[in-house]
Amino acid sequence: MSNDGVNAGRRRFLVAATSVVGAAGAVGAAVPFVGSWFPSAKAKAAGAPVKVNIAKVEPGQQMVAEWRGQPVFIVRRTQEILANLKKIEGDLSDPQSKASEQPAYVDPEVRSIKPEILILVGLCTHLGCSPTFRPEVAPADLGPKWVGGYFCPCHGSHYDLAGRVYKSQPAPLNLPVPPHSYESDDIIVIGVDQEKA
Ligand code: FES
Repeated sequence: MSNDGVNAGRRRFLVAATSVVGAAGAVGAAVPFVGSWFPSAKAKAAGAPVKVNIAKVEPGQQMVAEWRGQPVFIVRRTQEILANLKKIEGDLSDPQSKASEQPAYVDPEVRSIKPEILILVGLCTHLGCSPTFRPEVAPADLGPKWVGGYFCPCHGSHYDLAGRVYKSQPAPLNLPVPPHSYESDDIIVIGVDQEKA
């Protein structure tokens, strides 16, 4: 056996060992990334609270946040919208939200802590589609009695701008109001209950 043979063998071993270290290094680098990403995704799915800044939501507009993988609708309601909620109560299935899901600290009719800020889980109570925000009054496709609300594109359920479902719709209940609280006038925390005053 020549020295060359030994050296060649040793070189092959060193090359192989280096490759293994390289691979181990790559795995080592990947693990902390996955490790720090995965728990946060898990925590989110399990319901970690979400902070939302609503400063830029103009009167009459909606923004959509995400909490527990669900859309959360946040609407800044005008005085006109709030006045219209009263007018249509006779057309609603559960105007006082007696059977529907909402925290105890939320007004059961306007369904919010502050009247002007509406917060809803944006999933239809029929089969879970996400209803469309339709704030216009009397658009051609929704008829002259429409005072603004949500329309579910899947099977046509109608809700008002408090997330209350109209009578005789596929959806049985009002849109749920998630637990939420105010950290300041502009910052809402979805998933953390408002403390009693
Ligand atoms: S899922 Fe909304 S009406 Fe069926």
